[in-house]
Amino acid sequence: MHSFGYRANAVVTFAVTILAVTCAMVSLSDNFNSPSPTADVKVLNINWFQKQPNGNDEVSLTLNISADLSSLFTWNTKQVFVFVAAEYETPQNALNQGNNLRGKDYNMTLHWHIMPKTGKMFADKIVMTGYYLPQDYK
Ligand SMILES: *[C@@H]1O[C@H](CO)[C@@H](O)[C@H](O)[C@H]1NC(C)=O
Ligand SMILES: *[C@@H]1O[C@H](CO)[C@@H](O)[C@H](O)[C@H]1NC(C)=O
Repeated sequence: MHSFGYRANAVVTFAVTILAVTCAMVSLSDNFNSPSPTADVKVLNINWFQKQPNGNDEVSLTLNISADLSSLFTWNTKQVFVFVAAEYETPQNALNQGNNLRGKDYNMTLHWHIMPKTGKMFADKIVMTGYYLPQDYK
C-alpha cells in the first residue's frame, strides 16, 4: 500500500507534467497567429523646434496615432508594450554641427513587444516612411 506522501508526490508530478505540456502547446499555438497590426501616424503640429544650449536640436511634435493592434492579442497574451520612435540617419563620421535635424527625412516606427503568458517574448515593428522636419527653427 502506498503512503500518503508517495501518492501526493505522484499527483504533483502528474500535475506539473500536464502543466508543462499545456504551456508548450499554448506557446506553440502562438506560432500560428501571425499578427498584422496596422498603424497610421500623422504629425499634427511641430510645437517647437530649437537648438539647445549644448548644440543639439530639440523638437516637440503632436502626433495623431491611429492603430489597430487587436491582432496582437491572443489568449496567450499577457501584455503588450507599444511605442513610437522617430528614426533618422546621420551621416557617419560627420562633424556634429548641432543642426542635425534641420530639413531631415525621418521614419516613424511603431514598435511592439508582446509578453506572453507562457513562451518567449516577441517583438516586431512597422516602419512608416516619408516624414520630414523643416529647414528652419521656429
Ligand atoms: C486623428 O486621426 C483620426 C483617423 O485618421 C481622425 O478620425 C481624427 O479626427 C484625427 N484627430 C485629430 C485631432 O486630428
Ligand atoms: C526609412 O525606411 C526605409 C524603409 O525601411 C529606409 O529605406 C530608409 O532609409 C529609412 N529612412 C530613414 C531616414 O531612416
